[in-house]
Amino acid sequence: MIKTCRNLIIAAGMAFAGMTGMAVAAGDAPAAPKQEWSFDGPFGTFDRAALQRGFQVYSEVCAACHGMQYLHYRNLGEAGGPEFTEAQVKAIAAANDVADIDDEGEAIDRPGLPKDKFVSPFANQRAAAAAHGVAPPDLSLMAKARVGGPDYIFALLTGYEDGPEDFDGANYNKYFPGHNIAMAQPLFDDQVEYQDGTAATQEQMARDVSHFLMWAAEPKLEARRSLGIRVMLYLLVLAGLMYFVKRKVWADAH
Ligand code: HEC
Repeated sequence: MIKTCRNLIIAAGMAFAGMTGMAVAAGDAPAAPKQEWSFDGPFGTFDRAALQRGFQVYSEVCAACHGMQYLHYRNLGEAGGPEFTEAQVKAIAAANDVADIDDEGEAIDRPGLPKDKFVSPFANQRAAAAAHGVAPPDLSLMAKARVGGPDYIFALLTGYEDGPEDFDGANYNKYFPGHNIAMAQPLFDDQVEYQDGTAATQEQMARDVSHFLMWAAEPKLEARRSLGIRVMLYLLVLAGLMYFVKRKVWADAH
């Protein structure tokens, strides 16, 4: 009970912070248009193929600048996520060099294993800032950290424009608060080659990587929803039973 209360207070606090954040973030940038996602609504689920394609976009494009510190390679194979096979997860992990210490105490690089965290492109924040002017933020929780979530990420990735003539910033983005963003347009048509034959348009890649980032920020979404549905069914059956018990108990009283 106390825990529920605490969670409610935290949720209310977060909603309030979200509202104030919206007032700040909106600034002169328009709100991101609402997109249709398979995970919308109380029964929504992730689309495995979209998650797998989104991971491909992340690892081939975004990972050059952005880390995802809360993900481990094994998460890519877990239920409710992209659900890569065990062999695929091993191969994905092994394609990354992980800093470690060997049995003699020497610092080494070894191929990644499913238990490893996603390798970050930079040693630390300062190195990241030095390389790009502004440190590319970690993307693990990005879909929850910005108002609009996946809609915002999609809008941002497809929102690069020439900008007004007097614009002298780094890159003009319609949806970025203030419009001046340190990240150059990252996605162009046919930048990746999808294994499943989907045409890799800029929009498709933006959609897929936003889908993937939503899963990364809320990996238990499907489990939570299916538990919710089972609880509702249970309560419904229980309510029905209670009704008949009540009729039976009171049958002679009338
Ligand atoms: C060449 C480096 C680079 C690449 C590649 C790159 N980004 Fe970025 N990204 C940045 C930098 C730098 C920032 C910080 C921008 C700022 O605050 O002005 C950023 C910021 C962001 C933000 C946060 C925007 C905000 O509201 O604060 C998101 C979301 C994002 N990137 C997503 C992506 C995705 C998704 C990809 C892959 C499709 C990607 N980025 C590829 C460098 C990069």
